[in-house]
Amino acid sequence: MAACIDTQYPVLVIPAMQDNLIYLLIGTDSCCAVIDPGTAEPVLETAEQKKLTLTHVLLTHGHADHTGGVSLLKKKTGCSVLGSDLRQSSEIDIVVQDNQLIDMCGFRIDVIATPGHTCSSVCYYLKPDGRSAGAVFTGDTLFICGCGRLFECTANQMFHSIERLAALPDSTRLFPGHDYTMDNMRFALTVEPGNMAIRRQMEVLNKEGSLAAIPSSMGFEKQTNPFLRTQSPDIRRHVNLPDAPGEQVFAELRRRKDRF
Ligand SMILES: [Fe+2]
Repeated sequence: MAACIDTQYPVLVIPAMQDNLIYLLIGTDSCCAVIDPGTAEPVLETAEQKKLTLTHVLLTHGHADHTGGVSLLKKKTGCSVLGSDLRQSSEIDIVVQDNQLIDMCGFRIDVIATPGHTCSSVCYYLKPDGRSAGAVFTGDTLFICGCGRLFECTANQMFHSIERLAALPDSTRLFPGHDYTMDNMRFALTVEPGNMAIRRQMEVLNKEGSLAAIPSSMGFEKQTNPFLRTQSPDIRRHVNLPDAPGEQVFAELRRRKDRF
């Protein structure tokens, strides 16, 4: 079984396959939802070990490394599958849309449409309540210190999707779909070498392992993630676009990261 990490939030992290991150969101009455199960076995094992009942699957997009476990989970548990695009997974029972509110396991979850990585990508946002900060599950849209590749959409679309996420409160916990943190931080330093918050975090992660970065927070991402920092004079200087619109700086950063 993959190591399961307790984030001290009602979320368990299940690292799976090469660098995917599957999340179990634990709600009332031991009910839980899984986000982006690329594979079923570690999800079933973790649910059994923690005595949780899986009732829902949430899909951020349809790529196989995020959906590969859906059929088996549905067969074994009878859970409901929510996703944004029936063309990407025939297992979806409930098609979700931008700004839709979903009630499950005692949580109210907002759907945020974030076209960019794919045209139908969505993120799932839990608003803060009296007990906990908010949380957002970002799939392959926003990573720690990075963002997803543009497979179907333009850089402009991704830029505006990420701006929507950046408007969430700084305390919002960020749960991305992959552990690309170290590679992303190495890239970030090529365009903003003076960013000490990145350097300090890399020192910590070199000792503790990259999974210690999960969850990040939107506030920390605003200090460190170059794709959220297109107004940084240092970044603009490094990409030779001192006066360009943010969208253009974003597109150049994405091009450079593709070649990194
Ligand atoms: Fe993907």
